[in-house]
Order: sequence, then structure tokens, then C-alpha cells
Amino acid sequence: MKRENKAMATKTKMKKIGVLTSGGDAPGMNACIRAIVRSASSKRVEIVGIRRGYWGLINKDMIPLGEMRVSGILQRGGTFLDSERCEDIKTSEGIEKSIDVLKSSGIDDLIVIGGDGAFRAATKLAETGGVKVIGIPATIDNDVYGTDFSIGFDTAVNTALQAIDRIRDSAESLQMLFFVEVMGRSRGFIALAVGIAGGANEILIPETETNIGALSQRLEKRLSKGLKSALVVVAEGETPDGARSIAEKVGKKVNIEYRCVSLGHVQRGGAPTAKDRILASELGVAAVYELLEGQHGVMVGESGSTPTCTPLKDTWGKRKELDPHLLEMLHTLAV
Ligand code: F6P
Repeated sequence: MKRENKAMATKTKMKKIGVLTSGGDAPGMNACIRAIVRSASSKRVEIVGIRRGYWGLINKDMIPLGEMRVSGILQRGGTFLDSERCEDIKTSEGIEKSIDVLKSSGIDDLIVIGGDGAFRAATKLAETGGVKVIGIPATIDNDVYGTDFSIGFDTAVNTALQAIDRIRDSAESLQMLFFVEVMGRSRGFIALAVGIAGGANEILIPETETNIGALSQRLEKRLSKGLKSALVVVAEGETPDGARSIAEKVGKKVNIEYRCVSLGHVQRGGAPTAKDRILASELGVAAVYELLEGQHGVMVGESGSTPTCTPLKDTWGKRKELDPHLLEMLHTLAV
């Protein structure tokens, strides 16, 4: 063998990790991608960005990510890799195609940033044994088991809170009852946090039963104590008919003018808070280091400021509970 050929043959192959963002975007996803790229780069590991989530994996839409390529994205909301809710990855053909693409691209490991939907597919990929996968929780809903906080939750709560503070100005000035619908497809984490921080009189969440008659009576009682206005925070997942349907029913029973506002996708965008940037950076670095240490098939997270690794199948298979103390506190503090 010629000397240069021999040198090439003995040169160790540089490790290559793929990264994708899947499902609804969450503020801090970009900070997380940056942390993955920069920490990998410091360990001489190559990062390949997979565009549009699992769609890009199946269709081999990839870009190399060097440390300079992720400059200037830390403070930006959304995900510069783009995302998608991909139906094809739910099929066995989609999983097989993904494994083939990863192999043919020389990608050894995969980091998936997203929520429960992203981790269901990540579990299937990991179970095939063809690829080592690590998940990073990023969803404003904060409903992923295995971590106290998901990337994006803090920003979404603060965004909703700003809107509620404004709404309160009008509610007070015109003595009105406001129903404010916040996101949370099937859980009440955002509603509970926003309810406490925004001083809501009531929160309606999928985790607890809502009785319209009793709710109306409680509101009447509160108003009779001298409250000028009232605020009810409604989680999107509370009713398939939306907060307006509840507002209309309650509105017929209480003696105060009411309005209903749905904050919608406003809560998903915007620059991440410092808390989300820090969490995203920590989890991005942790994912790379865990992979380099041979860990896989897990999601990295944080519990009481301690780093955790949770089996991917538990992240969506087990239910994350709302903190009962927070719920109790909200009821104690509401007059
Ligand atoms: O990102 C989570 C979430 O915001 C849910 O609360 C909500 O139901 C859903 O995404 C809506 O997202 P999309 O409009 O992208 O389907």
C-alpha cells in the first residue's frame, strides 16, 4: 500500500451525530442546536442538521453544521432547522427508510429535540437497534415525563402572562369577566403556571372536573365580595369546543359582562427567556456528552436541578403529574 493510502486507512473516522427538531416549535430550540454543535465541535465530533424533522430524515434533507453556522441563532425563537409533524415516521417503512438514510450518510447517532410525538418515533428508531438515539425535551406544553421543565415552557408562560397583565387592565377598568384560553393540547401545565403568576380567580384544566353551575356560583360570590373584575384561565385541552363555549354558559349565569380571548400561537413564538436559553444549552451539551460516553435510548432532562436520563419509552408512556401543591396554592390565593 502506498504511504498516503496507508495513512488514510489508519485515520480514525470522525464521529457524526445527526440532529433534528420535531413537532411544534418551542423557543430555545435554536439555543439547543447551537449548544449541540459547539460542544460536539469541541470534542471533534461532526454534527449534521436534518431539516423539517423526520420528514428531512426520510427524504435525506441534511446540512452540515459547523460552529460558525450556528452563530446568531441563540436568541431566536422557532427552529432554524424547521420542523414538521410527520405522518410517515409512524409507519414501519418510515422507520426503515430513516435507518437506511442514517447509515448511508455515515451518521452514527441521532439527537431528537421535541415532545412526546417526537419521542414515540425516537423510541421506535432506538428499538430497531440500528441507531443510537438521545432525546431532548422541547415543548411549550411541558407535558413530557422525566424532566421538571421542557425547553420553551418558561418563554410561553411569560408570553401568556404579558398578555394577561394587559387584559387585566381592561377587565378592571370596565369591570368585566375574562376567559383567557392558553395552549396545552391535553394538559394544564401552562394554565397552572400562568394562573398563579397572573393571579387568576379560577383555572380550568383537563386534570380536574369543571362544573359550570358551581364555577358560576364561585364567581358570583367573588364578585359580591367587591371584586371589580375576574379572570378565568382555560387550558386549550379542557374542552374540545374551546373556552368560548364555557364562557357562553357561565356568562348566562353571572351578572357581569364577559369576554373571551384565545392566545393561540402567539405563545409559541418569540425570543426565549434566559431560563430557556440556559436549559437548552445545558441539555444540548448533556446530550452530546451522554452519547460520547455510550449512553443512548434515553432523554436527557432535569429534576430539581439535577441532570437526569429517562428511557425514551417512559417519556410518553408515563404520565407527568401536575404539582398538587401549586394547584392548592392557586385556590388559596384566589379571593
Ligand atoms: O406545541 C404544543 C402545542 O402548542 C399544543 O399546545 C397545541 O395544541 C398544538 O401545539 C398546536 O399546534 P399546531 O397548530 O402546530 O398543530
